[in-house]
Amino acid sequence: MAVEGLQKEPQSILVTGGAGFIGTHTVLQLLKEGFRVSVIDNLDNSVEEAVDRVREIAGPELSRNLTFFLGDLRNKEDLEKIFSQTRFDAVIHFAGLKAVGESVAKPMLYYNNNLIGTLNLYEFMTKYGCKKMVFSSSATVYGQPEKIPCVEDFQLKAMNPYGRTKLFLEEIAQDVQKADQEWRIILLRYFNPIGAHESGRIGEDPKGIPNNLMPYIQQVAVGRLPVLNVYGHDYPTKDGSAIRDYIHVMDLADGHIAALRKLFTTEDIGCTAYNLGTGSGTSVLEMVAAFEKASGKKIPFKLCPRRPGDATAVYASTEKAHKELGWRAKYGTEEMCRDQWNWASNNPWGYRPPPQS
Ligand code: NAD
Ligand code: WQD
Repeated sequence: MAVEGLQKEPQSILVTGGAGFIGTHTVLQLLKEGFRVSVIDNLDNSVEEAVDRVREIAGPELSRNLTFFLGDLRNKEDLEKIFSQTRFDAVIHFAGLKAVGESVAKPMLYYNNNLIGTLNLYEFMTKYGCKKMVFSSSATVYGQPEKIPCVEDFQLKAMNPYGRTKLFLEEIAQDVQKADQEWRIILLRYFNPIGAHESGRIGEDPKGIPNNLMPYIQQVAVGRLPVLNVYGHDYPTKDGSAIRDYIHVMDLADGHIAALRKLFTTEDIGCTAYNLGTGSGTSVLEMVAAFEKASGKKIPFKLCPRRPGDATAVYASTEKAHKELGWRAKYGTEEMCRDQWNWASNNPWGYRPPPQS
């Protein structure tokens, strides 16, 4: 029985991959919403400094609710350690490898990391009776969509090993939930996350040459790369370049809070997928122009042939997330580019110090 005046314990969330791009922004929002957060990350594509900066933004009081574990989901000893120490109410599962090109060159690495890591996570969640998960899926599961906007009940398709890991993991989630109805799982299909926290203290910091458009543009703007290659100028679109649904990472972070609340309040959620996008498409050349406007920098670009495997236009139907999660993206490309530039101009080398000349 609840005793009046007695403070309820804050809910405790395990965030896998919480040192990464989307993870850090989500952890910050979770702390602000009063959750207790444990992060597990092997720092394969991130640095602990990013978690320290989350603490700095959150302030000393909220930071007391954040614990960081250096660990790998493929290592069951790491999972045993973390699950035996803390009781979790839910898991947000970001940890995974995400570079499409690398997944083609090293498929075994992707299957090993993304699939084994997730299977281990299910094993320990089951063992410790935590059966609520928010899983990072991707618009990649729509392949090259025949129709747009992409609606959650479209037939899914994978175009590369990375995409196949997301497709398999969505199917595995469905099977796990079907076999044991105590599970509540939300699959979030992100479109193209960009931008950064408004403080400019956390943001995306890819290793090596960026694969994705906005980190590439950002590195041209700060002088780390000389010119942007625009892949494709003969698409049947208004300016010939390809169209995507770019979404501010803070909107995405808030989408995870909405998904968690849905998990906690909906007994019969089963295993349900939601798109997280803005619902509107922007071309590559429009993004270049928006970034130039926000940064005051000229972005030199070269029109190049299409990138193999790219779709002409991909954007989300946002109706289901709006209706069922009560969530909708707030920010447009102007704010996305403003915050991306704020992060880039304050941290031209990301979390690393500039190289010695
Ligand atoms: P990210 O690489 O910045 O973050 C992923 C984090 O997971 C990294 O910090 C990495 O060190 C960690 N990690 C990887 N394998 C691990 C393992 N075995 N054990 C522990 N930690 C591990 O990537 P992100 O952009 O923040 O993406 C987060 C999730 O969202 C990923 O699953 C990704 O596939 C998915 N996603 C990303 C995008 C995007 O464009 N950024 C789009 C759709 C879906
Ligand atoms: C966007 C547009 C490029 C770089 C990828 C993954 C997807 C998801 C999000 C994880 C395309 C063009 C890009 C460049 C360019 N990630 N481009 N010059 O391909 O929509 O989606 O990230 O799940 O799975 O496939 O994003 O940012 O790579 O490309 O012209 O240097 O920008 O051709 O039209 P994409 P992107």
